Amino acid sequence: MNADMNAGEKPGMAIMISGTGSNMDAIISATRRGLLAARTVLVVSDRPDAPGLKKARTKGIKTLAVPYEKGVPREKAESAIIGAIKAERAEWVVLAGFMKLLTPNFIQAFRNRIVNIHPALLPSFPGAHAIRDALAARADITGVTVHMVDELMDHGTIIAQEEVAILPGDTEESLAARIHATEHKLYPRTLQQLFHEDF
Ligand code: GAR
Repeated sequence: MNADMNAGEKPGMAIMISGTGSNMDAIISATRRGLLAARTVLVVSDRPDAPGLKKARTKGIKTLAVPYEKGVPREKAESAIIGAIKAERAEWVVLAGFMKLLTPNFIQAFRNRIVNIHPALLPSFPGAHAIRDALAARADITGVTVHMVDELMDHGTIIAQEEVAILPGDTEESLAARIHATEHKLYPRTLQQLFHEDF
């Protein structure tokens, strides 16, 4: 728990997405069902057309879209994001399918308070195509990792992992469906432990 927080107060999260936002959805429903004691104070996307942004708005959650301009250093978009997260006084930054690599400047602004979910058993299959890569490697098992975020891509202290078997005949779609189902349970449960228990 953050030292500045009063006991009993729910920590604020800024959730960052780039696409569908199904993990964001699972996290928000866990807060509403009392499974995760936290508040979603902001949803941020680098893509104004991300379907997850619309979902967040229909749930009455404040959203922000910050497109990254081509040829412009990432720090420019990030400084707008950092400012908005600080203005909402979020204690935690929760990456849920945010597909831009964060710069050291961003990591420094929220050191040890940024969490990510990745659809593989890290350190295996980092990157943007982890499910496809696990299938292409003919792995028997892949899974889901929740980890603290440092300066490297899909890297940092691992806080939870769960295996997902790759079945004969699996396609990227069928495997992704099982991985997502696992993510939707593992992420809210792990955030609850991270925010409220000692790791
Ligand atoms: C999730 O499977 C997440 O693990 C992955 O993006 C997907 C987002 O789905 N993240 C990464 O690959 C990070 N390298 P969602 O928008 O439906 O939550």
